[in-house]
Amino acid sequence: MKGNNEEALQVHRQRFGEPGRRFAAPARVNLIGEHTDYTGGLVMPMAIGFQTVAIISGRQDGRAVFYSANYEEEISLEPGPLQVAADGRWADYPSGVLWALQQENIAVGGFNMTLAGNVPLGAGLSSSASIEVATAMALLDHAGVAIPLQKLATLCRRAENEYVGAKSGIMDQFVVAGAVAHRAMLLDCRSLTFELLPLPDQVRVVICNSMVKHAVATGEYGDRSDEVEAGQAVLQRELPGVKLLRDATLADLESCKDKMSAASFARCRHIITENQRVLEAREALLHDDMKQFGALMVEAHKSMRDDFAASCEEVDKLVEIAMQQPGCFGARITGGGFGGCTVNVVRAEAAEQFVANVRKDYAAVTGITAECFVSAPSDGALAMAESDGAR
Ligand code: GLA
Repeated sequence: MKGNNEEALQVHRQRFGEPGRRFAAPARVNLIGEHTDYTGGLVMPMAIGFQTVAIISGRQDGRAVFYSANYEEEISLEPGPLQVAADGRWADYPSGVLWALQQENIAVGGFNMTLAGNVPLGAGLSSSASIEVATAMALLDHAGVAIPLQKLATLCRRAENEYVGAKSGIMDQFVVAGAVAHRAMLLDCRSLTFELLPLPDQVRVVICNSMVKHAVATGEYGDRSDEVEAGQAVLQRELPGVKLLRDATLADLESCKDKMSAASFARCRHIITENQRVLEAREALLHDDMKQFGALMVEAHKSMRDDFAASCEEVDKLVEIAMQQPGCFGARITGGGFGGCTVNVVRAEAAEQFVANVRKDYAAVTGITAECFVSAPSDGALAMAESDGAR
């Protein structure tokens, strides 16, 4: 069961004895702007063609029933308010969304929901935001409530932070819900305003999965964000104009260097320079300057590796190999880090050969076969629901 729409509709009908309405949400890849979102910074992600689908129909007894076609497992929740009760399994995500809706006083009647998806897990492509947003779209429709993009993304982030218990910013939920095909999204995570930017026709975005899943990824993400928060707290205390790290300059950071740990200093330096790189990447895109865009990606990778200490040997290798290939403008680690995928911007006509070479060279040095996907910017969940009318 791989998130195929028709198949999922059929599974739902067979299991629950009636047809359901279908909602879908994509995955995402971040082109540049890593670990900036939870300090009100700038990011530039795009949605990609993997999907989670949520099929929903009503039930009379008020229970909330989630069936995962991927795990072939069902959970059934009593009617009434949910308590936070995450157990580290797939059902935390949809249950968390139901909980977050309840926190907003959105009443959702009893339902059966089938979830199915093909987003690679643990690869840094936001399988969790994809499940959250697909679930939220279906539950909101069932409740007969429409909410704006900002609220939808915030609610899904809340499910992840407060119910699932994973620290994360708002980038993933926002782009998975609000992306538009053929465009990258420059999102300001402080104001939640965004700009849609065209990617030139002559390039392709290639995602390469290092296949390295760091079991302690959540822990490492949490450590980094703690180090960032500690540095941000010093800046806030010392410099009245700094409300968020986003407001600080490198000179501000330097002036507080001896008041924070070396780790906090380096993490904050990554974020301050990364915000600047996102702005420069925007300029590069607007001027069709992919050479400059690629150079910024490489800088961003180095900063993630050295200042943020969130890369790993295999991913560094994957970036190094990518940069040796003809037609590759830029390559970097993408997502939370500590393994997962790289994102590469490659000349369209070179993309196929790029994939073949990278796979071959990466296997030769690591013994690992990377999975690579040539991805085009796709629609987010809201645009998908609009264009094909959820059914
Ligand atoms: C994960 C989080 C995002 C963001 C990225 C790093 O994907 O969910 O909020 O912090 O890591 O940029």
